[in-house]
Amino acid sequence: MKRLAILTGGGDAPGLNAVIRAVVKTAIQEHNYSVLGVRDGFDGFINEHGVFPLTTADVRGILPRGGTILGTANRGNPFARKVKRNGQEVIEDNSHRIIENIQALELDALIVVGGDGTLRIARELYDLGVPVIGVPKTIDNDIGGTDYTFGFDTAVNTATEAIDKLHTTAESHHRAMVVELMGRDAGFIALTAGVAGGADVILIPEIPFHFDAIAHKIQERIQRGAFFSIISVAEGAAPEGSQQEYATTGDRITYARLGGIGQTVSSYINENCDVESRVIVLGHLQRGGSPTPFDRALATRYGTAAVRLAVKGGFGRMVALNCNRITDIPLVEALAVPKRVNTKGDLLITARSLGIAFGDEI
Ligand code: F6P
Repeated sequence: MKRLAILTGGGDAPGLNAVIRAVVKTAIQEHNYSVLGVRDGFDGFINEHGVFPLTTADVRGILPRGGTILGTANRGNPFARKVKRNGQEVIEDNSHRIIENIQALELDALIVVGGDGTLRIARELYDLGVPVIGVPKTIDNDIGGTDYTFGFDTAVNTATEAIDKLHTTAESHHRAMVVELMGRDAGFIALTAGVAGGADVILIPEIPFHFDAIAHKIQERIQRGAFFSIISVAEGAAPEGSQQEYATTGDRITYARLGGIGQTVSSYINENCDVESRVIVLGHLQRGGSPTPFDRALATRYGTAAVRLAVKGGFGRMVALNCNRITDIPLVEALAVPKRVNTKGDLLITARSLGIAFGDEI
């Protein structure tokens, strides 16, 4: 009997369990494979009890659940792992141990569900002989070669609902409500939720902004009798000529975490406009909760396609969505250029036609 393993790495995203369920059901029922689950990302290959059999009974009822039943880790890079040696923290390359353990398991395929960082590790392992298949996951939607990553749609739903609710206070109190949304260096969540929620200003990393353009939009609305505004700000947005704002600094293991631009924009409005402002950082709420039907269906399609790709021997590749068709592309191609908002794209042009300001023009 052939055997595959599945792991989830990086930040959690709604739909991970749907992928796991689809992989287990397709592999066992359609291809007569056995399936192993790997706990907490690549760490599972070196941790005690990190690898365990997954049956169809184990995945029953998990389709609507957020998070991942396998656990995840965004520090589990086998090529650079922080460990304690004689009371000192040192960084070690543990990839040889992981590869040895994968070989000992006699895996016919390893399905890696992750974002940019996890898929990069998967590609390196593939170069070292591991039969890897990638599945693109992230609320940020910033992976190249695919129209959508699963998790994004749910995050946009959550963010849109938040903007809808903020309208109430904005309008009642005549305030400018600033909502800071996730997305790292891509503005997909802030743009899509901003348009869907009727924001007046949208700030994204792909368009450096000017503070006076924000003030101009707010003041213009006041003159028209709209005494409130909603500003959707991506955590990676930055003023023209300035650096992005970070909540924490990173190192070789942990990346620096973006955060703070929402507060900066809100403070500016308080000091320079004729309305009071408040900031809301939506944070990890965007990663939580039950996946939307779109994400459940996409994650299920990805999971099934990943197994079929493994059966065909398409290793070193990632399943992807292209014009609503499931395809696959080499991991190296998917990771070559990160996806960013097309500033000449339809959604952005539509937003501009509605008068939404991006902080770049007065
Ligand atoms: O990549 C997903 C994401 O949620 C980003 O949008 C955000 O910048 C980051 O992860 C937050 O990471 P952490 O969970 O480590 O705080």
